[in-house]
Amino acid sequence: MPDLIEKAAKQISEAKSVVALTGAGISVESGIPPFRGKGGLWEKIDPMSVAHIDALKKDPEMVWRVLIKSMKLVLDEARPNAGHIGLAELEKLGILQTVITQNVDGLHQMAGNSDVIEFHGTFAWQRCMECNQSIETSQVDMTTIPPQCACGGILRPDAVFFGEMIPAEELMRSQKASANCDIMIVIGTSAMVEPAASMPFVAKNNNAVIIEINPEPTQLTTRISDLSLMGSAGSIMPRLVKAVQKRLEPL
Ligand code: OAD
Repeated sequence: MPDLIEKAAKQISEAKSVVALTGAGISVESGIPPFRGKGGLWEKIDPMSVAHIDALKKDPEMVWRVLIKSMKLVLDEARPNAGHIGLAELEKLGILQTVITQNVDGLHQMAGNSDVIEFHGTFAWQRCMECNQSIETSQVDMTTIPPQCACGGILRPDAVFFGEMIPAEELMRSQKASANCDIMIVIGTSAMVEPAASMPFVAKNNNAVIIEINPEPTQLTTRISDLSLMGSAGSIMPRLVKAVQKRLEPL
């Protein structure tokens, strides 16, 4: 592993443009459970019954009670971990340009990254299903579930549910960032949900090097990852950043 980290650090320190793609795994060490695998949310609840747009339209109260309210309680407590902080440090070093994240938890921004594309939207905002007005989640009165907009419509998180399109601007910016980077660091995603899962392929097709950080092999590992750093984001990222910093120091 030390050799692999050194190899990754060399490539990262010599790159012109580095982009990160992150998934639920980077936030596991912040106390947010992932979706798939051991302890995953989709082991406990069926995503098609509670995280599909049709379920939200049909029974918003159930979706609020089973999914949104419990997710909100977990997200309210979460703070960035060493994985998020490592990505913010890579930006400070002038190396990392953009983070494309599938997460709705806002932890990359909290850690200090300034260009974060929220591919699946955010839980920090709600919008009205009737008038489309947005309101910060922290300002929403949750005494009645589902909470309501001033117009009487029902509020929903400004996040992408199954069956919904990825917001056009986020999709376009992600495709562009993926096509133009020479390294993509892929952290904590099973790469099973499209179109986010295609971003490493877009990068690879444009000759980028793919560096993967994940304790488990994924769909990408044997297919397109050039370097697979097998471990948790919170343990690998600080070592990787340290190795990059060392290479950038004048001799
Ligand atoms: P998944 O839950 O599918 O995958 C999480 C990945 O993180 C797995 O590959 C784990 O091995 C890895 N992992 C676990 N702990 C880790 C750690 N400490 N450090 C690094 N990696 C770790 O999550 P996503 O790939 O993000 O979409 O899922 C993609 C989308 O599916 C989500 O955005 C969500 C979900 O349904 C929507 O709800 C639209």
